[in-house]
Amino acid sequence: MPPLLNPRLSLSLKPFFLFSQSSFAPRKFQIPRQFVSVKSRTFSSLASEQSSDNGGSSVGGGRSGALSPSLVTDEVQRIDVNPPKGTRDFPPEDMRLRNWLFHHFREVSRLFGFEEVDYPVLESEALFIRKAGEEIRDQLYCFEDRGNRRVALRPELTPSLARLVIQKGKSLSPPLKWFAIGQCWRYERMTRGRRREHYQWNMDILGVPEVTDISGSILIAEAELMASIVAFFKRIGITESDVGFKVSSRKVLQEVLRCYSVPENLFGKVCIIIDKIEKIPIDEIKRELNATGLSEEAIEELLQVLSIKSLTKLEEILGGAGEAIADLKQLFSLAEKFGYSEWIQFDASVVRGLAYYTGIVFEGFDRDGKLRAICGGGRYDRLLSTFGGDDVPACGFGFGDAVVIELLKEKGLVPELSLEVDNIVCALDHDLQGVAATVATKLRDKGLSVDLVLENKPLKWVFKRAARIKAQRLILVGNTEWQKGMVVVKVLSSGEQYEIKLDELE
Ligand code: HAM
Repeated sequence: MPPLLNPRLSLSLKPFFLFSQSSFAPRKFQIPRQFVSVKSRTFSSLASEQSSDNGGSSVGGGRSGALSPSLVTDEVQRIDVNPPKGTRDFPPEDMRLRNWLFHHFREVSRLFGFEEVDYPVLESEALFIRKAGEEIRDQLYCFEDRGNRRVALRPELTPSLARLVIQKGKSLSPPLKWFAIGQCWRYERMTRGRRREHYQWNMDILGVPEVTDISGSILIAEAELMASIVAFFKRIGITESDVGFKVSSRKVLQEVLRCYSVPENLFGKVCIIIDKIEKIPIDEIKRELNATGLSEEAIEELLQVLSIKSLTKLEEILGGAGEAIADLKQLFSLAEKFGYSEWIQFDASVVRGLAYYTGIVFEGFDRDGKLRAICGGGRYDRLLSTFGGDDVPACGFGFGDAVVIELLKEKGLVPELSLEVDNIVCALDHDLQGVAATVATKLRDKGLSVDLVLENKPLKWVFKRAARIKAQRLILVGNTEWQKGMVVVKVLSSGEQYEIKLDELE
């Protein structure tokens, strides 16, 4: 290896403690006064201070009173530095985790042939107001905008999807396989993993009907959606012993209600009440069901059916002829074909808290029972007509970011993610900053990431930074080497160091 003539460069091989901090200490800049404090100063008082500081003459010979008003505030306003309750900042380490999660959401969606879509976070409030008395309605962040329109921050993505499908109409060619990752807002009571703002990964299939006829049912879209969630769990290290899906069909309830001649229009409302079973006392549930007009006998039968956890038992009670049993049997058989039978179980108590579901419904849960639902979805064949559109058969799911992160923490599976940069480029001399910029540009043009050291820093600092950002190579631009058109490359994993012509740097 040729001797390294540059004195700073040759030091790079010595232990860090040999570096003198002072020789490479950054220059100290005098901060202009107007940036230092804004305490109780007004634009006019600051302007007069400036003129008295300068004996009445304008600053630096410039225009008198030419200070930007944006630099000045009336008084100190101490702010709460925490984000609003229930919302999150994403500093780099949290953003890395979020990106990692979203990357897996996107990869799974891609593997299943889905296309990404998005909608506005702000929607018309009417989109989320359904009559069934859902909890989500009381949790809306809604307000009147400056044009007197009632608007709301979306609490979920499904109504926006329906709106877009109606708007696009016949220009779309079903089946649509769409996925979205979007921020949702719900003024919710905060529990572990439940927040006022969360991101949801949604996958929806539109235009594929459930087919139930004498030869049986075909619920391949539902089964495909659950397969995608299983694929996601597997990618992030979650197994069937950690989580499972509780599956049922709203047709189970429908069949019970039909026996008691309960009108169809009460169906959504009854589902919403039943969804609260684990959240409020059973007497309250009974009282609410009774208020819809259900007889005590019907309520008792309903509650009995809802406690069933076996398909065979359900068949004994409902009889084998109904659609609910046929659908569920089909789904379990498809789960076997997809290879995720161990992940799913029948549970009649799953009805879901949104009014629009019409068929199969499912929820992902953690087997330790420490967290709320990890994901949930189902078939909603009649949502579009509630907005005045033509119905399109549809099913999908929503998967939140916050609960699954709690699950990963619980299982010790949160990945260690750090900033990873291919190269760190540093000029050893202030005059060589321009050359360092050329080196950085050349590498970036080749698709390599570069952290360019922007200040005059001691090498000890540069090495520390290289380690922190997990740089693979340190590229030093020193005077002696640059006179030969060369730079020094140090491979940080092995310590190997060599000079190379800039043109040959790969
Ligand atoms: P959802 O059950 O209301 O369904 O929400 C889906 C998932 O979003 C939940 O299982 C949970 O992971 C997450 N989630 C919901 N609310 C919160 C919250 N406050 N904090 C944290 N995470 C939360 C829907 O939203 C349906 N639109 C899903 C769907 C799509 N159905 C068909 N297509």
